[in-house]
Amino acid sequence: MTGELSPIDKAKFVAAKRAADYVEDGMRVGLGTGSTAAWLVRCLGEQVRDDGLRIKGVPTSTRTADLAREVGIDVISLDEAKWLDLTIDGADEFDGDLNLIKGGGGALLQEKIVATASDQMIVIADIGKEVEHLGAFPLPIEVIPFGWQTTQALVEETLISMDVLGRQSSLRMNGDRPFVTDEGNHILDLHVQRIGNPRQLALVLNQMPGVVENGLFIDICDAVVIGYGDGRVEVRDINEGTVVQDRLDFVETDNLFSDLAD
Ligand code: 5RP
Repeated sequence: MTGELSPIDKAKFVAAKRAADYVEDGMRVGLGTGSTAAWLVRCLGEQVRDDGLRIKGVPTSTRTADLAREVGIDVISLDEAKWLDLTIDGADEFDGDLNLIKGGGGALLQEKIVATASDQMIVIADIGKEVEHLGAFPLPIEVIPFGWQTTQALVEETLISMDVLGRQSSLRMNGDRPFVTDEGNHILDLHVQRIGNPRQLALVLNQMPGVVENGLFIDICDAVVIGYGDGRVEVRDINEGTVVQDRLDFVETDNLFSDLAD
C-alpha cells in the first residue's frame, strides 16, 4: 500500500473504475495514456485476472503497452484489431461540447488515431479538467524534428490570424534534451490561453508542413466520466444528451494501488 490517495487521485480512480463498466467481454479496447488511463488499465487488469474478462487492448503508447502487459491484458496492434469497440482515455481539458485538449503526456498522435478508429470514445477525467473554453492548458502539437524551429515560427505567425489570446510556443523538453514521442517526433506546446474556434484552429494547424497532428480532439469524444475526490462520478453522454450521477465506494486494495506507473 502506498498510503492514502490524494483527492485528485481518488477522482481519477473513480472515473476510471466507472468507465471500466463500459468494457464488455470480447471487446477490442483502445487504452489511453496518462495517470487516469493508467488507473483504467489497472482496473481492467484486475477484471481480467479476477473475473475472467476477455479483451484485446490496443495501447496508445509504449508506456501503456508495458502496463497493460504487466497487468495481464492481451495487447494487440491497431492494425491487428483494425477497428475498436471502445477507446477510454484521459484528457487535459474538456469543454461543454466534449471537445478536448490532449497530449499532455506526449501521446496525442497515437491517441487520436486509436480514438478515431473506435465506435465510441469515453474520456475519464477529474472535475478539474472541465473548462468553459479550451486553451488554458498549453495546446500540444506534434512536429517532425526536421526544421522544427521553422515550423514553430510558421505556427506562431499563423496564430496571429486565429481566434486565440496568445501565440507563444515552447519546445517540450525531457531534461536537457527535446522530448521525443513514440513516433520519433517533437512536441511544441502552444500557449494560446483561450481558443475561440477550436475546430478552425485544429484544421489550420494540420495543414501546416512539419505539423504531424494537434492535440485538439473535435467531435471524437462521445461521453465523459468525471470523477470527484469524494467518490462521486458523473457520466455525461453527448449523443444521448444524458447526465447520470453515481457514487463509488472503494477500498484501497494492495493489488490495484501499489506501484502505479506514470
Ligand atoms: C496523454 C494525454 C493524457 O490523457 C492527458 O495528458 C491527461 O493525463 P492525466 O490523466 O495524467 O491527467 O493526453 O498524451
